[in-house]
Amino acid sequence: MNKDFRVVKKCRICKSSKLYKFLDLNKMPIPNGFRKKEDLNKKEHKYELGCFFCENCSLVQLTIVVNPEIMFKNYLYFSALSKVMMNNFSSLAHEAYLAENLDENSLVCDIGSNDGSLLKFFKSYDSKIVGIDPAENIAKIAELSGIPTEVEYFNSISAKKIRKKYGLADVITATNVIAHTDNLYEVFKGVDILLKKDGVFITEFPYLVDLIDKLEFDTIYHEHLSYFSLKPWNLLVEKCGFEICDIRRLAIHGGSIRITHRRKNRNLKNPAKKTLEFLLDLEEKKGLSKKETYDEFSLKINKLKEELLTLLRSLKKDGKKIVGYGAAAKGNVLTNFFGIDTKILDFIVDATPYKQGLFTPGMKIPVYAENRLLKKMPDYAIILAWNFANEIMEKQETFSAKGGRFIIPLPEIKII
Ligand code: TYD
Repeated sequence: MNKDFRVVKKCRICKSSKLYKFLDLNKMPIPNGFRKKEDLNKKEHKYELGCFFCENCSLVQLTIVVNPEIMFKNYLYFSALSKVMMNNFSSLAHEAYLAENLDENSLVCDIGSNDGSLLKFFKSYDSKIVGIDPAENIAKIAELSGIPTEVEYFNSISAKKIRKKYGLADVITATNVIAHTDNLYEVFKGVDILLKKDGVFITEFPYLVDLIDKLEFDTIYHEHLSYFSLKPWNLLVEKCGFEICDIRRLAIHGGSIRITHRRKNRNLKNPAKKTLEFLLDLEEKKGLSKKETYDEFSLKINKLKEELLTLLRSLKKDGKKIVGYGAAAKGNVLTNFFGIDTKILDFIVDATPYKQGLFTPGMKIPVYAENRLLKKMPDYAIILAWNFANEIMEKQETFSAKGGRFIIPLPEIKII
């Protein structure tokens, strides 16, 4: 790797070099690279943001891999801020608790454990827990709230260390982190080292079917190296000696998928066989194995850009005040690619204390606490964290009651 990034030459899963570039969102700063006021005049590093489709196995992946140290060392993403996310974690933990008969002797390891939000639910079932996360700042916060956390990237080396210290795991979880990982084979190697013989590995990530269907192009950014459909994912799983034994589609993050894996066992009947076949068929019907589908996706993004800019510019012309809601990474992708800056958005409000007082990467839009929305009463708030649109609109009923309007940008523009 050049110090800052590596150019992708081969598919991360099947190693084919038949990679077709279908998307170019231009060079962009890393979307969680919020900046302090005093740094705004300093040069900001920008990295190419583009996507390949693998013509062999259909994996969609970024064209470059930015050095993870640049993105994750001091990370500003906190799971615990959303009720929807907490409910999702609660259901994951509850299902695993019932299915795996967890008790006080069981060990649950969470890869990319962030602030420990998921493990807290397992802790409430009395299981032993350990989190694994490379972000030192967030690991500290997790430790302070009673979640033991190892500051590590998860791979075969750290898996051995963790096994030595805590023993073998009954359940390993990894929610919204697998897409961050360049070497997927190392993850499965690590799981193989750390997991009990009949343990399960549960992972969740955004599902490519939803991403394409709902035009969620702004979830494509440097942190997310891969955009999975089940076809390439299942290929990886099988190559690593595992099998999918449960699959569930989830509404969270614009449409995700929760997959449970176990070691391949020819003697056990597989309860997920039918669901897997159904979804593989769905992916085929949706054209996910054809490059034309992706070309069409790119065209639609450019159309949306024109429509949204036309709307926002005409509102500004009419003297309306517009702000952003949710300084999500995806919002930073959207504002950067569409060129939406402080001429259009006065500010963005966000619940994350660490983002408040900072400026968004690239577009330099100031971020404030959520209560500024009612204080300033703009005419419109565009929900950049559209995956939490319902939660946000419920929370901000007073804004609507006073005549404020919300704009949801995707999959087509809605004014509420
Ligand atoms: P999110 O969509 O989770 O992630 P990403 O950064 O990967 O795109 O980001 C949601 C943002 O929205 C996060 O910064 C917190 C913020 N937020 C609020 O400000 N208020 C809320 O009520 C909720 C649910 C989220």
